[in-house]
Amino acid sequence: MKKLLAWLEHRVGFRDSILPMLMHPIPRGAAGPMGWWYVFGSASMTLLAIQILTGIGLALVYVPSADKAYESLLYLNYEQPMGWFLRALHNTSAGGMVLMVAIHMTQVFLHGSFKYPRELTWILGVCLLFLTLGLAFTGQVLRWDGDAYWGLGVGAAMAGRVPILGPYIVRLLLGGPIIGADTLSRFFALHVFILPGLLLVTLGLHLWVVLRKGISEPPVPGEPVDPTTYDAKYHEELKKGVPFLGDAVVKDGLFSALVVITVVVIAAVFGPKGPGAYPDPTLPGADPKPDWPFLWTYAALTLLPAEVETPLILTAPLVLLVVLFGLPFYANRGERAPSRRPLAVLGVIVLWSLLIVLTLIGIKGPGAPTMDGWSGIPVPVDMVKRSSPVQLAGAAVLQNKQCRNCHALEGKGGIRGPDLTNVGTRLTRDELIRQVIQGGGLMPAYGKQLKPHEVTALVEFLVNCRPAGETPARNPAQPVPTRTTARAEN
Ligand code: HEC
Repeated sequence: MKKLLAWLEHRVGFRDSILPMLMHPIPRGAAGPMGWWYVFGSASMTLLAIQILTGIGLALVYVPSADKAYESLLYLNYEQPMGWFLRALHNTSAGGMVLMVAIHMTQVFLHGSFKYPRELTWILGVCLLFLTLGLAFTGQVLRWDGDAYWGLGVGAAMAGRVPILGPYIVRLLLGGPIIGADTLSRFFALHVFILPGLLLVTLGLHLWVVLRKGISEPPVPGEPVDPTTYDAKYHEELKKGVPFLGDAVVKDGLFSALVVITVVVIAAVFGPKGPGAYPDPTLPGADPKPDWPFLWTYAALTLLPAEVETPLILTAPLVLLVVLFGLPFYANRGERAPSRRPLAVLGVIVLWSLLIVLTLIGIKGPGAPTMDGWSGIPVPVDMVKRSSPVQLAGAAVLQNKQCRNCHALEGKGGIRGPDLTNVGTRLTRDELIRQVIQGGGLMPAYGKQLKPHEVTALVEFLVNCRPAGETPARNPAQPVPTRTTARAEN
């Protein structure tokens, strides 16, 4: 045994490479009770390990094709022994990982640990946050059910609003202009190869700079960071330091164990998520809420008036990127202690409150689309009364195709799209046809799901959606109609 170890040691050089890494000194202050602040990064990594293990297990059974994915999830849930638990654990631990990364970042931010000389550590950490979110998003698409289908439709419609590049981004994401067979393959490749690969490389670099620059000492009020003197001071601090393999590892281990137990219990109690309704855009019953890490964006978009939606979707992510990546550059010196940085503390409180409140609204709120428009709300009586048979057929299409998940008639129905009660005065027949067939804004295209006679009937109904006596909207380029053509149009 000893010989074997010596043989290995001679070749691997554990004692010169790994051991010093484990024994590297950390500031004494980071070892005592303050050490509990430093456990969130390693807990994120523990959850990542669970993701990789359960993910490999899932990938062995999951079929990434649009017509088989749903069945393979049902198979995992009901036939594969422990398959349901694998799914539940993967999903729960995914949410846990997003949360843990967010907490880790908050701690680093509050303690000013992103300041000199750890700017790059922070930047790589921000990349890790986005990669984790990317994995969470692509993962929920792989749960190929009605929710995933609708959620992706809304997501793609948002991406489609980017000026000029919009259509290209959508094409890149979906593998075509609409959600189709190629879409799932793309998301599978992203979720299983591309994003995890990037994540592991970025994590390696992150850990490398953490080791290079050492973990920060707990902040002390009145001892600001000065890049000219910091390194020497830190070096002195390390001379009195304690080895990482000791108190710090024990705390990391204990906390990670607690997190793993929590995740396992939640997974076992609540079971796997979905798959929900069959992924067919024409079937009712989907509830296209994103998974909870994204619920807050969904609630925000539901609450916001439609006019600010597009500007916000386009600018907010940019602002977020600039703030997060720029942070260690415009604030890389000065006080680190939270007690001396009231604005930073206030920012954290506001941001977390906002995220929590929006998430709660997302869980409870009506949301948009509401997805129950198909069931209860009838077409208003007076609209029915003034409708011709063709227009009534159109009203039926409107109900059956769940237009009212997003659109209200006389105030009743969804709120994602405009109320259609008077749409006939706003849009011409051509514009209505275009809107229905091609969609636009946050509205999906219905061209492929409607037969020509359904489109005709629907548009007849929509043209008639206007107060009694008011003329339909018309194209200013067309001549004013004579009395006979006007009657024909009605
Ligand atoms: C996922 C939600 C959603 C569904 C489902 C939906 N729409 Fe829309 N619709 C919208 C949104 C959002 C807009 C606003 C588009 C924009 O921002 O340009 C819109 C706009 C419209 C407009 C133009 C209204 C105006 O005043 O400009 C018409 C007409 C319309 N939709 C008809 C329909 C019909 C008919 C259906 C069913 C076949 C339908 N919609 C299904 C979201 C939806």
